[in-house]
Amino acid sequence: MPTSSPAHSPNHAMRVLHTREEMGAARADLRDVGLVPTMGFLHDGHLSLVARARAERASVVATIFVNPTQFGPGEDLARYPRNLERDLALLDAAGVDIVFVPDAAEIYPSGFNTRVEVLGVTDVLEGAIRPGHFSGVATVVTKLFNIIRPNCAYFGQKDAQQSIVIRKLVADLDLPIEVIIAPTVREPDGLALSSRNSYLTPAQRKVAPIIFQALSKAKALFDAGETDAEVLRRAERTVLEAEPDIKIDYISIASAQTLRELMIAEPGALASMAVRLGSTRLIDNLLLGEACTPA
Ligand code: PAJ
Repeated sequence: MPTSSPAHSPNHAMRVLHTREEMGAARADLRDVGLVPTMGFLHDGHLSLVARARAERASVVATIFVNPTQFGPGEDLARYPRNLERDLALLDAAGVDIVFVPDAAEIYPSGFNTRVEVLGVTDVLEGAIRPGHFSGVATVVTKLFNIIRPNCAYFGQKDAQQSIVIRKLVADLDLPIEVIIAPTVREPDGLALSSRNSYLTPAQRKVAPIIFQALSKAKALFDAGETDAEVLRRAERTVLEAEPDIKIDYISIASAQTLRELMIAEPGALASMAVRLGSTRLIDNLLLGEACTPA
């Protein structure tokens, strides 16, 4: 059922829509649509995408949907943080025109039996550890693209592999959508903002910036002329090993195009890692040879 939220300016009334039908009807009145897909529990990383879309597009649609198909059996679907009321207030204040908040049965009605699978770039890194994850992402993003038909869609560099998968999806399937990848928003101590940071205990939160420190170490070594990718990975591992609570899933220096591991690091290479702090899994990345905290 559509609901109206408080106006953000005299002319602004954000609409909250729940069904594909309502969304399709509302789309007809919009032009030049920028889409920001999210799973909610919004933070300044999400809001940076919304602000960019607001600045660049006539209309902004955001989606909030905790997509079950991108979570594996042992993952955090059930406990994924949610706060719809707060999210809607933030999106309204950011000047979003429409928020699409479908439930699972709206996106995956009974009988749904299709998967969108991007090959190659999905079988390494996150894809290797989370089988089916990117197929779930590609499937839901394709559906959101078809339901909302945006001119442009905004994603974050924080999820570097996801951004690469979506660029490939759009290119391979000739989707008429411009994909914008926006820089990672960080806490002052370097920790990349993530909805999953809310799982961290205060002690774990104190440890977490070591991820950014390890990535920054690789970047600094590369900037100083070190191109042996294995030396960079080892240096990152050494930084992380100072913290016994950190368990490393992977440390990667890979081509930002193919995501294959490099022997010789090159400018623009993707330094990425996934670690676990207790039961919380955190990912982060930096591009070598580029500004650390881009404006
Ligand atoms: P979610 O994790 O909610 O992230 C939504 C968008 O915000 C993604 O494009 C993500 O890369 C971006 N984002 C997250 N943290 C960020 C940060 N610190 N700085 C900048 N951008 C950041 O990613 C998903 O949801 C889902 O997989 C989705 C694409 C919605 C499909 O279900």
